[in-house]
Amino acid sequence: MNDKKYTKRNQSNSNSDMVNLVNNLDQKTDLKYNRRAFLKTAAGASVALGVATLPLSVRTLVGAFEDDSDHVEIVKLSELPKGSSVKFNYPTEEDSALLVHTKSGELKAYNNACTHLMCPVFYEEKEEVLLCPCHKGYFDLNNGQPIAGPPQRELPLIEVEVINGVVYAVDRKYRHG
Ligand code: FES
Repeated sequence: MNDKKYTKRNQSNSNSDMVNLVNNLDQKTDLKYNRRAFLKTAAGASVALGVATLPLSVRTLVGAFEDDSDHVEIVKLSELPKGSSVKFNYPTEEDSALLVHTKSGELKAYNNACTHLMCPVFYEEKEEVLLCPCHKGYFDLNNGQPIAGPPQRELPLIEVEVINGVVYAVDRKYRHG
């Protein structure tokens, strides 16, 4: 009888686990509330962690799509015979660039603002070089390095890929320090 009274007196009317956990003196019940409180906390932490990492997950997902958008179409390869070139813009509309289909069948692309005073550089087919007519600057077609005239730095290299017969610009590389 006394035990019953004792238990009743120490049982809270509240449904809150935390209130029952604090007021409870019975070890069995204490264990039950402890376990329940722990599970609730763990579930809450999992949800909080999931929500906290959501922006990162979305960004990763968007990043996967952005990879494709880095591919900028330049020209159909069939429209660019060996020994010819075409101008395009990459990576932005303000960055003028030149794609050359060499006589040996390679594709070479560079931003074509001369590294001396920014005049546009052209493909000179006969000698297979890149020529800046402003002050007679010459660049090596194979690697964009200056080979004659005032320019001291190489042209930024643009990496290209051919997918289903279409040439895409996919990346740009500065190679000087
Ligand atoms: S701007 Fe090209 S050589 Fe001067």
